[in-house]
Amino acid sequence: MKVFITKKIPESGVNYLKEKGFDVTVREEKGIIPDKDLIKALKNYDGVISMLSDNLSKEILKHAEKTKVIANYAVGYNNIDVKFAKEKGIIVTNTPDVLTFATAELAFALMLSASRRLIEADKFTREGRFDGWDPLLFLGKTLDGATVGIVGMGRIGQKFAEMLKGFNANIIYYSKTKKNLPYRFVDLDTLLKESDFISLHLPLTKESKHMFTEKEFNKMKEGVIFVNTARGAIVREKDLVKALKNGKIAYAGLDVYEFEPKISEELIHMDNVVVLPHIGSATEKARSDMSMLVAKNIYAVLSGGKPLTPVD
Ligand code: NAP
Ligand code: GLV
Ligand code: GLV
Repeated sequence: MKVFITKKIPESGVNYLKEKGFDVTVREEKGIIPDKDLIKALKNYDGVISMLSDNLSKEILKHAEKTKVIANYAVGYNNIDVKFAKEKGIIVTNTPDVLTFATAELAFALMLSASRRLIEADKFTREGRFDGWDPLLFLGKTLDGATVGIVGMGRIGQKFAEMLKGFNANIIYYSKTKKNLPYRFVDLDTLLKESDFISLHLPLTKESKHMFTEKEFNKMKEGVIFVNTARGAIVREKDLVKALKNGKIAYAGLDVYEFEPKISEELIHMDNVVVLPHIGSATEKARSDMSMLVAKNIYAVLSGGKPLTPVD
């Protein structure tokens, strides 16, 4: 059986599939796979390991012939028309759990980098501008006593909340459903009004697209810290730029963008935002575990078994 991987991934899963006797092809070209190559893969390979940047829309999937399983190398699967894939008899899987810690950790690092202005300060130092200790140099915001609002209290949101232990923050959250957790569950309006820090951990869906626009930013506290490691399109990026310009948002930490890999030109030139190239799950461990999980999902389906982590 033949498996196509749309980008190079850590070896662990590739070796696993080879040991199981699969014929594995890894796409060598850089950048996002063009639609025509994706279609070719769906026509000729039994299994496809896709990236979150691959466009597996209905228009592409309708050309599928041979593919029985698409294993997305990500937990998010907003890049795939799962309903249509199912109609075509294709099983779609993702990589939950194995990247939860890494992504929560990155959100935390991003939050502190933004609120304590680490990247700005590092740049300043490298430019040789540090001319002695200064009481007013790079004053930022503290988590001590702050209210942190978490939007989307799933695997990553909960891990992020756990990591806040020790920072003396008051945690509130808004999610689809109330959880049995020691944090206050609030509606979105309350979260926007009360939070000093806001971090997004929900998936991109029809309902969550543009959940954050000028209207929501206007409801937030003046000087809030805003962190997005979820998906760019949950936020209307041009409204975010505006909120960063007018000071509504003091600092933002971003790992994802509305029109990824394109980033609003203005963000690149702002000092009060940290911009990362979508590296939430980028630890050696998480990426290797993700590689094993996509491979095991492919193997399970193509050997007639049940996938480990199918998406519904
Ligand atoms: P998860 O366990 O499914 O958690 C998502 C949570 O969001 C769930 O608790 C869910 O509902 C809630 N939710 C869904 N739709 C919502 C809505 N419209 N409004 C409010 N809450 C909503 O997923 P996860 O593993 O934590 O991953 C979350 C997302 O993070 C992924 O979908 C992906 O887009 C993103 N991610 C990004 C990176 C990165 O590299 N930056 C890495 C990994 C993941 P309930 O309240 O009903 O439980
Ligand atoms: C990364 O963004 C993921 O969804 O795994
Ligand atoms: C700072 O370095 C201090 O000692 O307060």
